[in-house]
Amino acid sequence: MSNALVILAAGKGTRMNSDLPKVLHPIAQVPMLIHAMRAGSVLSPERTVIVTGHGSEAVAKAAMAEDEDVQIAVQEDQLGTAHAVAQARNALNGFDGDVVVLYGDTPFLQPDTLERMIEARSGNDLVILGFEAVDPARYGRLVMNGDVLERIVEFKDASDEERSITFCNSGLLACNAQLLFSLIDEVGNDNAAGEYYLTDVVEIARRRGLNVTAVACDEAQTLGVNSRADLAAADAVFQARARAELLDLGVTLMAPETVYLAADTVVGRDTVIEPNVVFGPGVTVESGAMIRAFSHLEGCHVSRGAVVGPYARLRPGAELAENTRVGNFVEIKNAEIAEGAKVNHLSYIGDASVGAATNIGAGTITCNYDGVMKHKTTIGANVFVGSNTMLVAPVTVGDGAMTATGTVVTRDVDPEALAVARAKQENKPGYARKLFDMLKAKKARRDKKA
Ligand code: UD1
Ligand code: MG
Repeated sequence: MSNALVILAAGKGTRMNSDLPKVLHPIAQVPMLIHAMRAGSVLSPERTVIVTGHGSEAVAKAAMAEDEDVQIAVQEDQLGTAHAVAQARNALNGFDGDVVVLYGDTPFLQPDTLERMIEARSGNDLVILGFEAVDPARYGRLVMNGDVLERIVEFKDASDEERSITFCNSGLLACNAQLLFSLIDEVGNDNAAGEYYLTDVVEIARRRGLNVTAVACDEAQTLGVNSRADLAAADAVFQARARAELLDLGVTLMAPETVYLAADTVVGRDTVIEPNVVFGPGVTVESGAMIRAFSHLEGCHVSRGAVVGPYARLRPGAELAENTRVGNFVEIKNAEIAEGAKVNHLSYIGDASVGAATNIGAGTITCNYDGVMKHKTTIGANVFVGSNTMLVAPVTVGDGAMTATGTVVTRDVDPEALAVARAKQENKPGYARKLFDMLKAKKARRDKKA
């Protein structure tokens, strides 16, 4: 049986109080919508339709960056969840498999839950995903009769008795696509919100004598995000899970609750991560590395035995080979640091390659940007770059070369050569004393005037 996904993402998310569409707010540095798409991908959907509305262009762009085959259905006015699903009708024209409806703001769904919904479809025409709510608050309530789901009543429309039900609607459902559209055709908007409720399809299906049931999952999976507070809470849930996974894999986190991970962070076993480290997207750290406190990593690769930080910043394209050292207040961007090389203090290495066993002295800067274009610095193996060297790119320093402290390198340096480019030092005997006397006399005259 083939499957399709419809992801509802048109809502404004008023309570986010944001210019960014709600579903593009990130959790663990990945937009919520992309979390939902990745969860849905377990169904190997033949078609994926994203229903967009507020911020449609931005939402469509993010969705297509994840999967170029997604179809976008624009819902001009947000008239309710049933109306939103109806917008996918054209995109699912001629598709007679199952459709699973997800929300773009429900990022914690686990793949097996979707599989269970599809399994429950054999023997049922319509399957709803429910959960036992600790605080049912304003969720829709599932009115069950044994295993049969009779209807869903929205909080706003519920009687006191119905409000006491704790089995709630997650919003997800699975149904044959064409059947779902025919059920939606009958949905009206005569309710407390004046909206076309998707939840009404349950009662309509039951009236037609169809089989409807609910599958349960734990509440954490259905966590929806409606406010910044929800976003923070959702992120916290994700972080707790991701840290626990790393610990299980044999990674030492000295203070787990202070390490911030991205959804795609990969860390090998026996790597040690000190407190207060932030991982942005696209980081891979191999086994047996050490990420010291207060470091910030994104889009980079750290090999076995490397030591990063404390206070290091690895930006996209930083490639650290085995046994490298990147120390405090060092920033590396789009640069390869070959095996055993060291950049220990206060340096910026950008758009560069640094050869094996090379030592970069404190305060070294690759001057990669001329105000218009970026240029490359190539430093060979076994080079000693003296402290406070400025490497004005494009420039090459050959293997085994040396630069004197304070040198501004503007021309290529041959292998094994020494580059010195700094003003000659001159010592003037007794001058310091004369200067001090002059300054003290000046200050005394000023104090007298005042
Ligand atoms: C909905 C359910 C409720 C359930 C709850 C779970 C309905 C009528 N109610 O309520 O039973 O307990 O979710 O979180 O379905 N959307 C659109 N277009 C629209 C309206 C909504 O795309 O016209 C999208 C929203 O962006 C959101 C999702 O659909 O992703 C849910 O909409 P929302 O307004 O949050 O529904 P709830 O009132 O929370
Ligand atoms: Mg909601």
